[in-house]
Amino acid sequence: MKLQSVRGMNDIFFPEMHLWHFVEEKIRRIYKNFGYSEIRTPYLESTQLFQRGVGNDTDIVEKEMYTFEDRSGESLSLRPEGTASVVRAIVEHNLLRENPIMKLYYLGPMFRHERPQKGRYRQFYQYGTELIGTDDPWSDIEVMAIHHMLYQELKLSGQTLRLNSIGCSTCRPKYKEKLTALLEARKGEIPEDFHPRIQTNPQRIFDHKSEKLVALKKELPLIINSLCEVCQKHFEGVQEGLKTLGIEFVIDPMIVRGLDYYNRTAFEFDSKDLGAQSAVGGGGRYNDMIEQLGGKSTPAVGYAGGLERLIMILEVQNQVNKSDLFKSDVSFVFADQNSVQKCMKWAYQAREMGLQADVSVQSEKSMKAQLKNADKAGSRYCFILGEREIQNQTVVLKDMSTQTQEDLPWGQIDQTLQKLVNQKLGNI
Ligand code: HAM
Repeated sequence: MKLQSVRGMNDIFFPEMHLWHFVEEKIRRIYKNFGYSEIRTPYLESTQLFQRGVGNDTDIVEKEMYTFEDRSGESLSLRPEGTASVVRAIVEHNLLRENPIMKLYYLGPMFRHERPQKGRYRQFYQYGTELIGTDDPWSDIEVMAIHHMLYQELKLSGQTLRLNSIGCSTCRPKYKEKLTALLEARKGEIPEDFHPRIQTNPQRIFDHKSEKLVALKKELPLIINSLCEVCQKHFEGVQEGLKTLGIEFVIDPMIVRGLDYYNRTAFEFDSKDLGAQSAVGGGGRYNDMIEQLGGKSTPAVGYAGGLERLIMILEVQNQVNKSDLFKSDVSFVFADQNSVQKCMKWAYQAREMGLQADVSVQSEKSMKAQLKNADKAGSRYCFILGEREIQNQTVVLKDMSTQTQEDLPWGQIDQTLQKLVNQKLGNI
């Protein structure tokens, strides 16, 4: 029997991998431009971290974690998201003592035992930022602006920033009480799977996908209309700042987010090109988590997006030509055993100089087959060393795009390669 990868967990390789690298490089560069530095936390954490950080009463912790006991009987879980681990690391290493404002980013795999479908996997990659240490609306705005810029740079179209405020420990309890009472009174209309949440987490009703709830949801009170003065002012500050930066958004009072740690700002970017799993990414403010995980009370805000979904949009919108992303700059083609050594040395030299150079590692390969490969590798230039050239101590330099060629003496190879390097740098 052929072995297969685990359901919902994918191999990623060429040519998609080149697109992944292209996107990852953009992500890292933009994060760096905003002053965020990378944090890598382990894939495995103690189960307790997610129970306390993300919340016992969330789908993620209740139903979706890969949890097991290790050989010493400790309960461990594969991380379902990145925020709890980042906070754990900050508290564990006391990072806030020296850096009252922390700007961190991550990029890596997360694991959730969900039903796999297009855009939803059991191992998926998230890119995300966490800005810890301030409650200022400008920090919320920055986290949104970073990702707005990323999506602009990738030339995505049709995505929407949806913004909401879900209140805080001052305004939420009163609202929650009202909502719970209303939902209890209409329990008969609500799918049974939601009944336990009526008491614990009634706002999640807005996230419930059941068609039956569409009408009921429209009648329910919204937290956005019950915000306390501080939350209201904060929410207005976020909106003003986004307008200042020219970042378009819509207010969507139905955004509640599936993790328990949020307060005030909650937001999502979604795309019309993602189908049912329309969230490009989501985030919000989590002012209580650091204290909950044993640190000093510290406000924070963050966001994470799904890399597979970003790649999917790029593919649908056909923004990037994958075959352009891994093109060789130059190929070397040899005639026989006598010319292979020279070509190997030149290719090595070209690579040292920073060119992507292609040469066959099969010294028996025919010139015809090598030329075909050079074409496939996408090389603009090809150095061809045939029998005639060996005798004349020259090499043919062929421009594959114009199909023109010239003879070069061996002594001019260095400077020709240097010219190609300059051309390449000029093109960046
Ligand atoms: P989340 O909304 O659970 O938030 O996930 C963020 C994004 O990860 C989603 O919008 C989606 O693009 C992607 N994603 C989630 N689950 C899957 C899946 N099964 N397959 C493919 N992609 C998926 C968080 O994880 C929070 N930690 C975000 C955050 C950071 N909040 C504050 N800081």
